Amino acid sequence: MATPDLITRTADFVREKFLHEGSGHDWEHIRRVWQVARALARDTPQADPLVTELGALLHDVADWKFHDGDEEAGPRASRAWLESQHAEERVIQAVEAIIREISFKGVGVPTPMSTVEGELVQDADRLDAIGAIGVARAFAYGGHKGRLLHDASIAPVQHTSFESYKNNTAPTINHFYEKLLHLRERLHTPAARRVGEERHAFMEQFLAQFLREWDGQDVG
Ligand code: ADP
Ligand code: NI
Repeated sequence: MATPDLITRTADFVREKFLHEGSGHDWEHIRRVWQVARALARDTPQADPLVTELGALLHDVADWKFHDGDEEAGPRASRAWLESQHAEERVIQAVEAIIREISFKGVGVPTPMSTVEGELVQDADRLDAIGAIGVARAFAYGGHKGRLLHDASIAPVQHTSFESYKNNTAPTINHFYEKLLHLRERLHTPAARRVGEERHAFMEQFLAQFLREWDGQDVG
């Protein structure tokens, strides 16, 4: 039997690792990011499909949020896996760069991607943080961390440094103001921007309805 190719082997490795993860970083998130990044790559001939697909599959492999803030944990885990699979050094470095650069770090903190493959993976990852799935993931994450849904006595807070973004424990509704409503403007590709518009509009509608129900305004 032929050995499965590197993408298939990586998908199997990541699926196994994330199958039982309940914080919104589950295999189904990775699978969607992989699928969407692959679709974006079809419209982007200058993107290397291998780097795009491996970057999508490995982008959350050891997220700093779950590794005591260690931002090198992801690149390190990705390198270890790809070296064990005898991937080319060029590919390993390109995937490490995607993982280092991909995260949102606060409203005032630019997060440019140094490669076109990185832009595709970042777009796919950010599309999965907005819309109906994005709403579900935000509350899954908040529940996992024991956060309140909302606190009407606190004004929405935004973070202009990575330190304050990283250390905040605000209720989940604040996450929309500190991150989710800003992702639309930061998408790179025309296809992602088109989808982003729809998902953004849905999130605004969700928030308006949530806040109406919070005070029973819709009851009268
Ligand atoms: P991504 O996987 O899109 O890079 P993150 O790793 O930052 O995003 O977070 C994973 C998921 O958890 C995303 O849907 C994100 O919006 C959500 N999330 C991250 N931080 C918070 C938070 N403080 N409150 C609620 N949801 C959060
Ligand atoms: Ni992700």
